[in-house]
Amino acid sequence: MTKHGVRPGTVQETLLIPLYGRAVENGKEQAALRDPRAGEIVAAIDYDFSRFDGLPSLTGAVLRTALFDRWVTDFLAAHPSGTVVELGAGLNTRHERVDWAQARWFDLDLPDVTELRRTFFIDTARRTTIAASVTDPSWPATVEADAGGPYFFSAEAVLPFLEETDVRRVLGMLAERFPGSLLALDTAGPGIVGAQDDHDALSKVEARMRWSCADPAELATWLPGTEVLAAHTLSGLPGRMYEQLPAAYREMLDGLAEQRLPQVEEYRLCLVRLP
Ligand SMILES: C[S@@+](CC[C@H](N)C(=O)[O-])C[C@H]1O[C@@H](n2cnc3c(N)ncnc32)[C@H](O)[C@@H]1O
Repeated sequence: MTKHGVRPGTVQETLLIPLYGRAVENGKEQAALRDPRAGEIVAAIDYDFSRFDGLPSLTGAVLRTALFDRWVTDFLAAHPSGTVVELGAGLNTRHERVDWAQARWFDLDLPDVTELRRTFFIDTARRTTIAASVTDPSWPATVEADAGGPYFFSAEAVLPFLEETDVRRVLGMLAERFPGSLLALDTAGPGIVGAQDDHDALSKVEARMRWSCADPAELATWLPGTEVLAAHTLSGLPGRMYEQLPAAYREMLDGLAEQRLPQVEEYRLCLVRLP
């Protein structure tokens, strides 16, 4: 079988970390999520994934994904024919994991990533791939033209890789074009961004985070009226989710909560309502 190549040394390479995390997780007997498709995709990509073996960040990425999945599922339970837009979708398989039969779905990423995505995922009447930068002011028209909302935007492990000015621009654009929508994003504090050369997974790729956010409440100062509905650390996941995790995860998270490590405390999984 000819494998698909990825261009190392670019921000796109970072998508392989959560992808591999989900593939490894799927192979576990007791897992935080199931994702058989991720394993198939990993097997079809020409890349030395073993460099990520055993890294704590893989577990962090899986827990983040599981929480974002819950948020999207809750949204679709309330709005079964709502619209989900994955910003910086990478090779995420959220549609495969949480799709509801009537939802409208968009997966947006940079053109070379969407080219790779298209080898694994097929567009349908309800699912559309968009090749664009999230900062590009023209993509919202594609979504608006074809989907009436309400909208849920999922930006998982994407915005920290942008400059702050670009993050502000993206949030402003979302608020202007899709007012009142939900946005899930992650934020990394200055201690994490400043120490990323020593980060277990990022140190193995060239891409670096640019935007540091000490407190997600800052978002409401950029865009008055923004409501931060949740801002969880990995060691402070929602009770309902924590209770349903395998026992080994709960033990590990209890230990993390006691240690209050800056790299855990400064990393937030946020759900916000745009003004
Ligand atoms: C760490 S990966 C996360 C991928 C996916 N969200 C997941 O959780 O599996 C970061 C993704 O953001 C994408 N990305 C980075 N900058 C972007 C931009 N300006 N516009 C759109 N996507 C971008 C990368 O191509 C990559 O797919």
